[in-house]
Amino acid sequence: MAEIKSMAVIGAGAMGSGIAYQAAITGIRAYQIDVIPEQLERAKSYHERTLARGVEKQRMTQGDADAARGRISYHSDMTHAEGADWGVEAASEDVALKKKICAQMRDVLAEGAVMATNTSSIYVTDIATAAGHEADRVVGMHFFNPVPVMKLVEVIKGLATSDETVERTMALAARMDKTPVLANDRPGFVSNRVLMPMINEAFYAWLEGVASPEDIDQIMHLGMAHPMGPLRLADLIGLDVCHNIMMVLHDELGQDKYFPCPLLRQLVTAGRLGEKTGRGVYDYSKK
Ligand code: 3HC
Repeated sequence: MAEIKSMAVIGAGAMGSGIAYQAAITGIRAYQIDVIPEQLERAKSYHERTLARGVEKQRMTQGDADAARGRISYHSDMTHAEGADWGVEAASEDVALKKKICAQMRDVLAEGAVMATNTSSIYVTDIATAAGHEADRVVGMHFFNPVPVMKLVEVIKGLATSDETVERTMALAARMDKTPVLANDRPGFVSNRVLMPMINEAFYAWLEGVASPEDIDQIMHLGMAHPMGPLRLADLIGLDVCHNIMMVLHDELGQDKYFPCPLLRQLVTAGRLGEKTGRGVYDYSKK
């Protein structure tokens, strides 16, 4: 198995910028790609901040940080990553967009390169159809937010994904200092199939006045040793993302229990999407 030296990361939001960072600090040349210039700027300053913090906390030397910084470049289109050994798509959850990027990866990346998608809710099997007869090299590489901190990569085997692609993906995730765990291509995979109904239930508990949002979170934080409570976590993930994943579970699994809580729906309708909009369950505007 040839060593992976370079990776195109398409999408420079919270997930894409985290993936590019993780690649760079583990010795992989990362091409960070996004069509929105402000998004690239945000990714760059996130990388700067996180590297500086790593040095301050003695997780890496200044030399390591400088080398990692030198391994990331920022581009508005994928042609700059021509010949890269690997691709990870981390664009927004839009099937048409993800398929378009998948087809571009097939055309631009090195021959034999794996085309990974960080989708949280779309079938890998569906995205892979855009790669035509090369669909065997399309795989799900589901990272978790914040990427540098969370140890898991959920590796998703689509219908056409070859065993060799899965094996290469597990090896690359380990090299990126993550623990890969394999799951099949079913709605929400394992992570979001289990996590999102819990978050949805926390919204019901709030709606029904079982406790305040703060107390619901505190109960789950202290009683279940979750690093943050489910409502606070929903704000971190994005309420729109939680809502969309519940809709996918509902539509694909056909059970009422997956329908998004009306309170979650209402907050999304109001544009209170969590940390990213400054307000979700909680108010972040003064922080
Ligand atoms: N990037 C890099 N490092 C980060 C970070 C980020 N975005 N956010 C926090 N950190 C680091 C901090 O620098 C700090 O490390 P340091 O002090 O040694 O530098 C460490 O993480 C802890 O951070 P804080 O002290 O600020 O705060 P907490 O102790 O509360 O930790 C947390 C924050 C890591 C986010 C923790 O609360 C946590 O693990 N929460 C749960 C996150 C989770 O469940 N994520 C999965 C979401 S689901 C998902 O992504 C799938 C998708 O499909 C929906």
